[in-house]
Amino acid sequence: MNKELRQAIIAGNWKMNKTRPEARALIEELKPIAEKATCGVVICVPFTNLETAVELTKGTNIKVGAENVHFEKSGAFTGEISADMLTEIGVEYVIIGHSERRQYFGETDETVNKRTRAALAAGLKPIVCVGELLWERECNITEEVIARQIKLDLFDVSEEDLKNVVIAYEPVWAIGTGKTATAEQAQEVCAFIRATLAKLYSKETADAVTIQYGGSMNPKNAAELVAQPDVDGGLIGGASLKAADFGVLLEAASNG
Ligand code: 13P
Repeated sequence: MNKELRQAIIAGNWKMNKTRPEARALIEELKPIAEKATCGVVICVPFTNLETAVELTKGTNIKVGAENVHFEKSGAFTGEISADMLTEIGVEYVIIGHSERRQYFGETDETVNKRTRAALAAGLKPIVCVGELLWERECNITEEVIARQIKLDLFDVSEEDLKNVVIAYEPVWAIGTGKTATAEQAQEVCAFIRATLAKLYSKETADAVTIQYGGSMNPKNAAELVAQPDVDGGLIGGASLKAADFGVLLEAASNG
């Protein structure tokens, strides 16, 4: 087991939830709970809550992430936010290529790759999401799909830059559905991602990459998932919106 070579990270993905007062309340509740965690703790929040989150988590072990970033530095891109705009306010992480963005907002592997490279160039740590559809799993092409996403999404990302990339394996059929991948399924694909990275880069670098599982991870199933040798924490939707639930996940990953 090479788990000591990398950091387990539990990252909340709040998605389109929480007004500013609600965000404040959740973060205040989370602070004393997160303090005990030895794993990395990240909360990825809507753009409107980023400044509040950065402000409230100063001096704590909670890092703040955005849920998307545009790849151009500036210009006529109505509704978009650049990497520099995020780093300027103290944001450290950014989710890229979440399946909801791929499904509903036309995100492709090409734009995921552009966003990833722009984020890295600005000093952000991208959490790059990959995952197969249910139909693809049923057709037995999960590994092909994942390998293709990894190769395209990380195209032209240097070995040095890969050290700042987190990969989140999120099977699309497990997101928000209450259907979790079994610990074996999560382990199998996370190990496959690591092997793919080892081929593209080197074993040493692949062993140091944090590879999370995401998809209906909750207080009941977290311990078994994060105990898997290649699962380094999780990217959490629903269970990140309640401090107590998130706390259980932090504890699981701290012990995993
Ligand atoms: P749920 O934990 O709500 O299934 O969401 C997972 C996810 O999409 C995290 O990015």
